[in-house]
Amino acid sequence: MRQLTQAGQKVFEARYAGKDENGHINETFAEAVLRLARAAASAEKENLKTWEEKFSHIIGELLFVPSTPIWANVGKKDRPWQPGACFVLAVEDTLESMYDTLKDMALVFKSGGGVGFNFSAIRPRGDLVGTTKGQASGVVELIRLYDASADMVKQGGVRRGAIMGILNVDHPEIIDFIQAKNDGGLTNFNLSVGVTDAFMEALEKDLPWQLVFNGTVRRELPARRLWRIIIESAHSCGDPGVIFLDRLQSGNPVPENRINATNPCGEQPLSPGESCLLGSINLDRMSTFEGGLNKEILEETVTAAVRFLDNLIDVADYPLPAIAAATRATRKIGLGFTGLADALIKAGLAYDSAGGRELAGTITGLIRQAAHAASEKLAEEKGCFPLWDKSVFYPDRPRRNAACITIAPTGSVTTMAGCEGYGVEPIFAVAYTKTTNVAGDLEVFSPLFLEYIKDYNIPAETLAVIAEKGSCQGIEGIPEEVAGIFKGAREIAPIDHLLMQAAVQKHVDNAVSKTINLPEDASAEDIGACYKTAYELGLKGVTVFREGSKKGTVTVGRERA
Ligand code: CDP
Repeated sequence: MRQLTQAGQKVFEARYAGKDENGHINETFAEAVLRLARAAASAEKENLKTWEEKFSHIIGELLFVPSTPIWANVGKKDRPWQPGACFVLAVEDTLESMYDTLKDMALVFKSGGGVGFNFSAIRPRGDLVGTTKGQASGVVELIRLYDASADMVKQGGVRRGAIMGILNVDHPEIIDFIQAKNDGGLTNFNLSVGVTDAFMEALEKDLPWQLVFNGTVRRELPARRLWRIIIESAHSCGDPGVIFLDRLQSGNPVPENRINATNPCGEQPLSPGESCLLGSINLDRMSTFEGGLNKEILEETVTAAVRFLDNLIDVADYPLPAIAAATRATRKIGLGFTGLADALIKAGLAYDSAGGRELAGTITGLIRQAAHAASEKLAEEKGCFPLWDKSVFYPDRPRRNAACITIAPTGSVTTMAGCEGYGVEPIFAVAYTKTTNVAGDLEVFSPLFLEYIKDYNIPAETLAVIAEKGSCQGIEGIPEEVAGIFKGAREIAPIDHLLMQAAVQKHVDNAVSKTINLPEDASAEDIGACYKTAYELGLKGVTVFREGSKKGTVTVGRERA
């Protein structure tokens, strides 16, 4: 059993550990590992003890880290065993549906999940309401209502629920939607415009674009003007991002259940009612400076992790019968990784190099290959997912799970696992100031950096400069090779962030959650260029973070909030 770091133990105790009725922790990390392993093994018909031991091993050794709702819920006596982090719900153009869905959203939050919606079925603000002859409130008002409710319901009592709101690029209320976060507010929502190939073509050819509802054209404007509004808004507040609707649908393993939305952070396209549970392979734990990545351990871990996640779908207690039915019809799992940056550093490769991208692609490809093989074997043993005969895999490729690979942000689990790089992201900074209760502000170096420079004899004064700047770029006495490998997220060019996302997306069934960092002086055109490049690179969606934009910022050299 691995010992958690101090920060890891804090996350574990605050979010995951069992507590008694007075809120006192009554579970150790080792006991929680056993709780998860036992719950997953209980889905087996035979060899329960063997599976329990296998699951305990990969989780207890931090080779595989299940995502937050699994730790917080599964196997506990006092909670429903709800393992999913990602949900998509439908909302229709009736008052009943708007409020029914609001209630469903609250129930999903309470169970620990985040929700995505596509609001395009809702009639635009100002349209006539048939029964009352009044005017419809529209999409943005509905979003405000949902946002206010999210403030009220904390996820499983530990964090606020995150929501993804999507509106299609041809909806008549699209401009208000794009600008909905410009004056602050809607803090629980990420907004994304659902962009179609037809819109990208109209933009490319500088054609007019029609806003349409229920088959009626409401307005026409140049595609380039709408695009301008999107990128200016993203420039000022970080929202909206864009998702490429045709790509979501073309990657849909069960095409007749259309997909037009993703979960809150964008990594999991789902059709309405579906949910997905996540788990991450810890690439840091299976990499060393001497030998790089251990592929054997990687494959073994993936095989067991697929079975673990698949089993949880059987023992899960979902918040609504419709969600249980839709989730079990496709049995999607979202296996991904964290600690990519750590693995690249240990292999001596820069995040923004061709070699770094190649290794990231190779690793993701290996995970996908092993996961698909595991899902195929499970199908032979336990049966295919129920909608398999309606899927793109039918009839040649038996599968237990309609989709297997997702790269999540891994915000909490990475801290628990003790990696430096979150999900697919580079390290945040090589040095930062950490505020502690006991010792005040402390200068903290990336442990990987300290390990890496051991043989370089870097003088203490140089290290002091690095600590001060929070960066090792352009500093006398730091070899170019070291500076190249230890670039923080802000020191990597936007195009290199995008190229990494693309290198990984190629091997991912679902999608990749990634932030494209831009400097404060980046223009709206720079953001537009990122969005267009994302489209050209075949990504399913993209979000940017410009330093100093209203989304909030992180001071140089300080710990990530
Ligand atoms: O690390 P952890 O398992 O806590 O989660 P993550 O990988 O950072 O986020 C995975 C997914 O969990 C997100 O894309 C959301 O669907 C959901 N989530 C949420 O609903 N609310 C949050 N505050 C954070 C994550």
